[in-house]
Amino acid sequence: MAGITLYDVVKMYGEVVAVDGVSLEVRDGEFVALVGPSGCGKTTTLNLVAGLIDITDGDIYLGERLINDLDPKDRDLAMVFQNYALYPNKSVYENLAFPLRMRGFKKHDIDERVRGTADILSIGPLLDRRPRELSGGQQQRVALGRALVRNPLAFLMDEPLSNLDAKLRVQMRAELKRFHQEIGATVMYVTHDQLEAVTMADRIAVMNGGLLQQYDTPDEIFHHPVNTFVAGFIGSPAMNLLPGTVSTEDGQAAIRGEEGWQHPLSAENGRRAAASTTGEVILGIRHGNIRLHREERPGTVQTRIYTVEPTGDLTYVHLRLGSALLVASAGANFRADPDDPIWIEFEQKNLHLFDAKTEQTLEPSGRERVAEEPATAAAVLA
Ligand SMILES: Nc1ncnc2c1ncn2[C@@H]1O[C@H](COP(=O)(O)OP(=O)(O)OP(=O)(O)O)[C@@H](O)[C@H]1O
Ligand SMILES: [Mg+2]
Repeated sequence: MAGITLYDVVKMYGEVVAVDGVSLEVRDGEFVALVGPSGCGKTTTLNLVAGLIDITDGDIYLGERLINDLDPKDRDLAMVFQNYALYPNKSVYENLAFPLRMRGFKKHDIDERVRGTADILSIGPLLDRRPRELSGGQQQRVALGRALVRNPLAFLMDEPLSNLDAKLRVQMRAELKRFHQEIGATVMYVTHDQLEAVTMADRIAVMNGGLLQQYDTPDEIFHHPVNTFVAGFIGSPAMNLLPGTVSTEDGQAAIRGEEGWQHPLSAENGRRAAASTTGEVILGIRHGNIRLHREERPGTVQTRIYTVEPTGDLTYVHLRLGSALLVASAGANFRADPDDPIWIEFEQKNLHLFDAKTEQTLEPSGRERVAEEPATAAAVLA
């Protein structure tokens, strides 16, 4: 296997900038997910690495080798697409063997590789069947096997699970992760499903409008999004984002919404908010970090129930705060009627603050946080 490195990669289609100066390094053996909304440039980025389209500017390396002008067939990369067309009239064995025959492998080598690959993917017993005699998940595994059998330098996958039903997708997610861990594969995986990215990837590259927004571990991206786009994109239900103005009275900082609600800020959050260029901020808070109270308490904000969604183990509580709708969560037994009053409180240590003008976080960067917390830094380095 080999790593993949992109330096300032640009792809223009006429005037359209599909990929806008993306730099990222996928380490050897790393599973990296490219996520972002439709049209943000994920597939284009992957196709540039595969060599299926020409790069407008920048450099792409596979391991140490510059591959900008290398023919796709010489890149030694395996692609797995959403529409993994298997040969319908060939057996599973022949589907796996075909890419090897094309490359002139000897019969004995082919047999060894096909059976070895089938073992890894637990499709050994299916080798004599035809694709139509397989379930969707089994077909998906054959498609994966066809890529794996060649022993490529890296895998490029474009939404390979999106044709499967929800249950199978969850199962295949686990299998893909397992597959990656077992063979130590370098994987670039495109998805618009943030949950797939968070659950499978070592690192996630979040894209929007052709630009790389943040590239980090799922944990870092979830807990320390760099801007409001990433904050709203990763996590489900999406993070609540509330615009407000920061003020300080008698040494107590608070955020005030346009419709007059006011919530206190801890000293630390107050200091952060003060760094906003205009005094206008966007407060970000995830559903699990909003405490709900049936009566008014100091430091709470009154809202009204919009609707309540029980999901079995958790209840999503939609709340109306002025003209905004918020999602909070409560236990399985939480019940309330529309328009009931609920007082909410934001957990200060899980509250995010963004500059309303730049939409960038007001939190210290990862490096600054490490410098602030030497004990944690030592733990990370150990
Ligand atoms: N061949 C093409 N000619 C012109 N524009 C293109 C072409 N292919 C893609 N684009 C444009 O480039 C941008 C990025 O497209 P891309 O296919 O990379 O998006 P994506 O992130 O994979 O989206 P999706 O989640 O919908 O698959 C889009 O604005 C798209 O319209
Ligand atoms: Mg795409």
